[in-house]
Amino acid sequence: MVVSPWEVSGQINYDKLLKDFGVNKIDEKIKSSIGVHPLTKREIYFAHRDADKWVAEAKKGKKVSILTGRGPSERMHLGHLVPFLIAKSLQDTFDCDVYIPISDDEKFYVKENLDFEKVNEYSKDNVLDLIALGFKPGKTFIFQDFAYTEIYKYAAQVAKKITYSTAKAAFGLKPENNIGWSFYPAMQAAHILFPQFHKGKHMTLVPVAIDQDPFIRLTRDIAEQFGFEKPAAIHAKFMPSLYGETKMSSSNSGLSVIFLDDDKKTVEQKIKRYAFSGGQKSIEEHRKLGGDPDIDVSFQYLKMFFEPDDKKLKKIYDDYRTGRLLTSELKEILIKRINEFLEEHRKKKAEAKKHLDKFLLKN
Ligand code: TRP
Repeated sequence: MVVSPWEVSGQINYDKLLKDFGVNKIDEKIKSSIGVHPLTKREIYFAHRDADKWVAEAKKGKKVSILTGRGPSERMHLGHLVPFLIAKSLQDTFDCDVYIPISDDEKFYVKENLDFEKVNEYSKDNVLDLIALGFKPGKTFIFQDFAYTEIYKYAAQVAKKITYSTAKAAFGLKPENNIGWSFYPAMQAAHILFPQFHKGKHMTLVPVAIDQDPFIRLTRDIAEQFGFEKPAAIHAKFMPSLYGETKMSSSNSGLSVIFLDDDKKTVEQKIKRYAFSGGQKSIEEHRKLGGDPDIDVSFQYLKMFFEPDDKKLKKIYDDYRTGRLLTSELKEILIKRINEFLEEHRKKKAEAKKHLDKFLLKN
């Protein structure tokens, strides 16, 4: 298994990652404070650093913020939404500021075939997807590294505190990588400290997928040198692709993921053809033996995103286990839910164009 910011592969053992990364398991107490969304309630977010401390500050009425970023390497798919849905849910619960850096520079450096014009195009498009999620205007600050150049001042101050050998060890930099790779960690650490550069010392919570933890660790190691609080983090498991692979990735010509702009027909075809099923080979066998919802991708998507009602989810689980619910019927439930969500999303994305000014930070 390999889990690093620029490479995820193999069979992921999350218990081992807790130990390897030295992060803590999210306990019942933290879960009860942050667990409104299925992603937190159902333990897709499984690990943390100092999340208990962040929650305690928030509950005391102290200033707290949330920050999570987007690397605009392509148009967005469902898997990309994971940290942003949680950022939004936490903003609703705690009424706090949310910061969203767009690391176009990162993706420009690390994606060999992504040219400068294209990455800027994706940035603009992704920003609209993010605004469409319903963040609060006036409390949500989005900035693109190539456009909000103020961030460079902070990145430089951070860069001066990180040696090359630290970056090399933390990110596995290779001799053949361009030097953008070696500077970028300073940029992402500057993102994570940005709320404190911007509004003074306070606690920031960073929802991320577990592969991003090296950035969190690096930033925590230098935060105090600026007189800042160490940032807290909550870490998510990866959202499986339709094929059931560990992480959603659009490398299979985009067939194993659901893009936010996939139309109804495309969603239906992708789920029917490609969503890995825990069902039996024939209907007769399925009725007799039942299916396995724990490996069934359609069920996993309902669990992570689309069926927030615990009772309804349990009924689907039990019905599938006992064979009362067929794979085709389970898939129909998911297709309907995804298409309802995407239809709403597209409307809100079209409206988002009018509200850019309320969200984008200006130099
Ligand atoms: N590196 C992240 C990714 O590839 C995106 C990102 C940029 C980010 N800045 C961040 C994530 C700050 C968390 C915090 O997805």
